[in-house]
Amino acid sequence: VLAHFQPKLLAGKRVLMTAGPTFEALDPVRGLTNLSSGKMGFALARACAEAGAEVTLVSGPVSQPTPAGVTRVDVKSALQMREAVLNHVSTSDIFIGVAAVADYRPVETAADKIKKTGETLTVEFTRNPDILAEVAALPAAPFSVGFAAESRDLDNYAQGKLSAKKLKLVVGNLVQDGMGGDTNQVVLFDAAGRHPLPLASKDEVARGIVSHISKLLS
Ligand code: CTP
Ligand code: CA
Repeated sequence: VLAHFQPKLLAGKRVLMTAGPTFEALDPVRGLTNLSSGKMGFALARACAEAGAEVTLVSGPVSQPTPAGVTRVDVKSALQMREAVLNHVSTSDIFIGVAAVADYRPVETAADKIKKTGETLTVEFTRNPDILAEVAALPAAPFSVGFAAESRDLDNYAQGKLSAKKLKLVVGNLVQDGMGGDTNQVVLFDAAGRHPLPLASKDEVARGIVSHISKLLS
């Protein structure tokens, strides 16, 4: 009863997020993408909504149901994801970049299917904008949170991203512990140091991240 009453951790907060992979088209039927399932991002969107936040989720191509109460914006490429994020960022208190954004896109997208010709094929790629770094550098930046999925040397890379992108929090994990599966083992990196969370379902990990964000906000 009354003793059990707890205000929701993110009540009244507006959360903008990215999730899933991006798809960088080479021609009308082919492109560059990655193995992100979107599960961690969608679990976090659900946890934020359950914590009372108003959530806008900009998602790359995934097969995940939209969590109850979450506003979803579907995009394909990193450039479209950036556009959608910039359209919503001015009304956001918190930005969480969970998406596995392609670092590069083909310089050219062929209008017609690329035909098989020589024995080798060389495609030139150009850097995509860093959506998270751009958001965190805005004059009125929301409280910005990033993810770092690494295959080795997690602490160094995650701490590096925390400071290089001027973030409040980085959620780090080793790809072998998270990508594609239903569980994840993460370490939270903030100005105070490193905070490992136990191996758990992505829903439980998401609730742990929400609770840490709400502590940092207060
Ligand atoms: N990110 C982004 N836009 C990009 C690249 C990354 O918003 N173009 C975000 C991701 O959503 C994630 C964080 O930045 O929250 C870190 O992404 P990651 O790929 O781990 O790091 P990079 O900065 O791209 O560096 P690298 O891939 O070389 O490790
Ligand atoms: Ca990257």
